[in-house]
Amino acid sequence: MRLLTGKPGWSTSADVVVIGSGVAGLTTALNLRSHNLSVLLVTKATIDEGSTKWAQGGIAAALGPGDTPDQHKKDTLIAGAGLCDTKAVDVLVSEGPEAVRKLIAQGAVFDKSATGEIALTREGGHLRDRILHAGGDATGAEVSRALLAAVKDDKGIEIIEHALAIDALKSKSGRVCGVVLHVIGAGSRDGVGMALAKAVVIATGGLGQVYSQTTNPSVSTGDGVALALRAGAKVADVEFIQFHPTVLWRDLANRGQQPLISEAVRGEGAILLNHKNEQFMIGKHPQADLAPRDIVSKEIFNQMQESGQPFVWLDATKVKEFKNRFPTIHASCLANGIDPTIEKIPVAPASHYASGGVRVDLDGQSSVAGLYVCGESACTGAHGANRLASNSLLEGLVFGARIAAALAKNLPNQEEPIEDSKTNLLDPKIVLPLQISMSEGAGVLRTEASLRKTRQTLSELSRLTSEQPEIQSWEASNLHLLATAIVNSALTRKESRGSHWRSDYPNISDEWLCRITGELDSNGTWKTELEPVK
Ligand code: FAD
Ligand code: SIN
Repeated sequence: MRLLTGKPGWSTSADVVVIGSGVAGLTTALNLRSHNLSVLLVTKATIDEGSTKWAQGGIAAALGPGDTPDQHKKDTLIAGAGLCDTKAVDVLVSEGPEAVRKLIAQGAVFDKSATGEIALTREGGHLRDRILHAGGDATGAEVSRALLAAVKDDKGIEIIEHALAIDALKSKSGRVCGVVLHVIGAGSRDGVGMALAKAVVIATGGLGQVYSQTTNPSVSTGDGVALALRAGAKVADVEFIQFHPTVLWRDLANRGQQPLISEAVRGEGAILLNHKNEQFMIGKHPQADLAPRDIVSKEIFNQMQESGQPFVWLDATKVKEFKNRFPTIHASCLANGIDPTIEKIPVAPASHYASGGVRVDLDGQSSVAGLYVCGESACTGAHGANRLASNSLLEGLVFGARIAAALAKNLPNQEEPIEDSKTNLLDPKIVLPLQISMSEGAGVLRTEASLRKTRQTLSELSRLTSEQPEIQSWEASNLHLLATAIVNSALTRKESRGSHWRSDYPNISDEWLCRITGELDSNGTWKTELEPVK
């Protein structure tokens, strides 16, 4: 099943097509090159666009004195609230330190302490200082810079910018053998075309734009996950949308990407206060303000409901050297009329991270032959019901290398694509009401009634179709498919766990100690199954 497009007017090929140029895509591409495979790297906007460059807090890895992968594992499992796949966590934490050392060898420069050691800080859910950071709070920009420099240097990686991947091409045997692209380019590669490959790696990042307020950039419309679903792949854990607790609150009228105030600010001593000036996280969790993210977001939400105010306060006035330690956040606060060194910052939760995604094995292989997924688009099971802070950049580094190694060992032959049925497109006008409905009904707090209401809205919006194959209608169709997946899974899970909070089922339940997977059947109808947790 594919989205409606014009007839492909051009084609190209490579051993592997990698879709997306964040940490996951860039790492996969570089590792494929170290196995001598040719790579076509396609990316929707300019090459540095995506969540990676916005990452603030850092990368978690057990590199500090006395820290061990096992302790990192324990913190990851606790944050994941029973749903982590322990093998995936083992891979993440044990291969993580080497992956970070490799990144440093590739040129990434991390902040150092006064004694010249790599400076490590702490974030929510970590019982140790194990977060490497760069440029104070510009870790993602540095990771992106270093990886991009290496990618641009490699003549075996062909890059196409402004290339939106629309759908997978499949062969008669059902293997993915390429991708349909829309390129805003020049000359022969303009408009809809085909990139043929022996395997395709989706690294298209998150889906924050499903909600009204998000920390994610505008490219995070979940295209890769939607593409995988239409290609027949399974997704899992999609109900676990992580809401970052401290996103600068400006006004409900502000939609789309909002400025993040990193958890590392609390790691350096900032505290959350309610409108009565009480430090409300004390007594709610042993780690108080540095409890795992889902717990802090829920408590902030409770405080907001109690006070009737749309935000709480983050007091960072006692953080030492704020401007030097957090230059990006300092600048974004000032740009919004707040001086964080002398006044409190209004903050509220906003959609931040998809803990679920396309279900993959430890080598990034999805349930469809030839289709691999890496980074935020994937569900390796490493994050369970709630990702531990700063484990995401790490995931891209670790699993990007594993996918490349697996493909190098077992690269299939190129197969020929066959035609596939086309589905209707949705009108871009649906995006705003979809986002509002998702924030209201499937946000931090959910109930059967709120989810059903959102499902009803989604069903009404699905009638607004479009005959116009264009970027906005492909994205609108993808957002709608993902919103449907999130709502259906959230309705299925009748408990509260991790970042899935149901006020009608407020407790965690052993009955739900399983993963909810979903896929589209041949009629495009949503089908849910339960997968035992390993
Ligand atoms: P991305 O970096 O989002 O890259 C996705 C790429 O795919 C982009 O190049 C995009 O343009 C491209 N793309 C999307 N759709 C298509 C399409 N249809 N066709 C072609 N290309 C497409 N994590 C941490 O570990 N530590 C942190 O400190 C941290 N801070 C964060 C701060 C912010 C503000 C945000 C938003 C996230 C943060 N995260 C952090 C999460 C982390 O940044 C992301 O999960 C991670 O960068 C995702 O990497 P990725 O490569 O999977 O996706
Ligand atoms: C942050 O800096 O608070 C974000 C870290 C993350 O999402 O891992």
